[in-house]
Amino acid sequence: SRLRRTFRWAWRITYLSVVGLVGYTCYIVYQDRHPEPQFEPDPTKKTLVILGTGWGSVALLKKLDTENYNVVVVSPRNYFLFTPLLPSCTTGTIEHRSIMEPVRTILRHKKAAVKFYEAEASSIDPDRKVIKIVDNSEIQGATSETEIPYDMLVIGVGAENATFGIPGVREHSCFLKEIGDAQRIRKKIMDCVETAAFKGQTSDEIDRLMHMVVVGGGPTGVEFAGELQDFFEEDIKKLVPEISPRFKVTLIEALPNVLPSFSKQLIDYTENTFREEKIDIKTKTMVKRVTDTTVEAEVSRPDGGKERVVIPYGLLVWATGNAVRPIVKDLITKIPAQKDSRRGLAVNEYLVVQGTRDIWAIGDCAVAGYAPTAQVASQEGNFLGRLFNNMAKTENHESRIRELSSKMNLQAGNSAEAAHEIESLEKQLRRIKDIKPFRYSHQGSLAYIGSEKAVADVSWWNGNLATGGSLTYLFWRSAYLSMCFSTRNRVLVILDWLKSKAFGRDVSRE
Ligand code: FAD
Ligand code: NAI
Repeated sequence: SRLRRTFRWAWRITYLSVVGLVGYTCYIVYQDRHPEPQFEPDPTKKTLVILGTGWGSVALLKKLDTENYNVVVVSPRNYFLFTPLLPSCTTGTIEHRSIMEPVRTILRHKKAAVKFYEAEASSIDPDRKVIKIVDNSEIQGATSETEIPYDMLVIGVGAENATFGIPGVREHSCFLKEIGDAQRIRKKIMDCVETAAFKGQTSDEIDRLMHMVVVGGGPTGVEFAGELQDFFEEDIKKLVPEISPRFKVTLIEALPNVLPSFSKQLIDYTENTFREEKIDIKTKTMVKRVTDTTVEAEVSRPDGGKERVVIPYGLLVWATGNAVRPIVKDLITKIPAQKDSRRGLAVNEYLVVQGTRDIWAIGDCAVAGYAPTAQVASQEGNFLGRLFNNMAKTENHESRIRELSSKMNLQAGNSAEAAHEIESLEKQLRRIKDIKPFRYSHQGSLAYIGSEKAVADVSWWNGNLATGGSLTYLFWRSAYLSMCFSTRNRVLVILDWLKSKAFGRDVSRE
């Protein structure tokens, strides 16, 4: 009977937890669907223009009290993209809309209205304090180009794909940075499979089409290679068995090992796991040229010599890191203090672009001494949000102090009360003005490596914990789930995971 009582209690607790969780989710969903009325921004306030809707800019928007500024957001993308789960979209483990959050929804939840323009900033004039914006979308109205004046400008435009000017890369390979890239890859994988399965296809051509080559052994390349191998093992093999033995994934990396930013132990673990998964890793191999069917690379031999190899491929994914966007390059040329900047806009410890006034840069387009990651970008955005809130509070307090001081001079009767308020405001001001410079706090690095295994280099009790395997995979899933932008994203991602596990990935080619 004790067992039965324990069971009854366990059942009650589970029941209450589930009811509580469902109730809380319903409450959050209701709040999301019924935001408070918004008030119009005050035109006398400063205009704060924010470029981009990525990790940095959205973190800033989340933190910012928009009633203190006239906020204008400009981005060619009217959504936030949760990039850590983008590799999962290439194979259909996750549907792309599950990791997108419309920027209009984000802005609707701010206290004061924010203007959003779906456009690309094409140039910045720091002397006139204006930016030029262009609507490059498919549908254009009578006006598709205009200028926006700013008092304060935040540049969070991220980076573009590095190709190092290698011939053929732009024309023949797929990148993996945006939703469109993931959709293109998903389509191409299935096109390669169906073309390889075509009646009478030659043997050499089947081998080529079924060869998926990934260039760049950083986290993007490694995660994509892992996802791709899973897709073939779990789905393609069952659905198109006749060609599955010919399927092969090759990961090409110029350095002696993959994942150079992870600890040695995790590099070894990843390379061993890839070997077990039959992913071919070619390290010390630098791609020099790409054609529509081949990759030409230079391999460094152990004796120091070099060897040229030609690798036929069906799908080529190029993941060799970041390059500076044209708008950032253009701004660098206009600021003498940035003449030595190569990897982005050099910023000071308050993220102000060096050599400018009222321009800040965050995320992948800023050089602050940290790696170009979502973690850094969102902490920088968060920091700027707090900084701007404090700056607005400082201005409000200072103008109130000026107002009270002039009143004190005119009406001597109320001076004690005013003096008391001034004293309290000055005390608050000292606290507000004492803003510490930006300091990045590294929470760790995580990467999925396929076969339901992940690697993690995380901070742990003032030290570092390097771990890999199936438990780390569960940690990876729960960490990324908790980091998803909204409850909607979280629910959709969970449903996608369940759906692909239960029914398999959808292999139809849209
Ligand atoms: P982005 O998030 O790239 O946003 C830039 C924004 O600027 C976009 O909205 C873009 O449309 C807009 N924009 C571009 N040009 C203009 C213009 N001319 N005018 C106005 N707006 C413009 N990091 C991690 O820490 N952990 C991970 O697990 C992780 N996984 C990743 C997986 C993949 C596949 C990729 C590609 C990256 C991953 N990263 C990860 C890196 C991370 O995504 C970036 O470091 C992060 O997105 C940088 O944020 P950002 O705000 O600087 O730029
Ligand atoms: P990366 O810069 O980390 O890696 C690119 C790799 O490509 C390098 O190892 C480089 O040696 C190699 N390479 C360059 N040119 C080459 C050539 N011609 N031939 C062969 N190899 C070549 O780029 P990645 O993976 O796109 O990541 C960009 C940023 O995003 C990094 O800061 C990364 O940490 C972050 N990121 C983090 C993730 C995570 O934490 N899970 C996932 C994806 C990205």
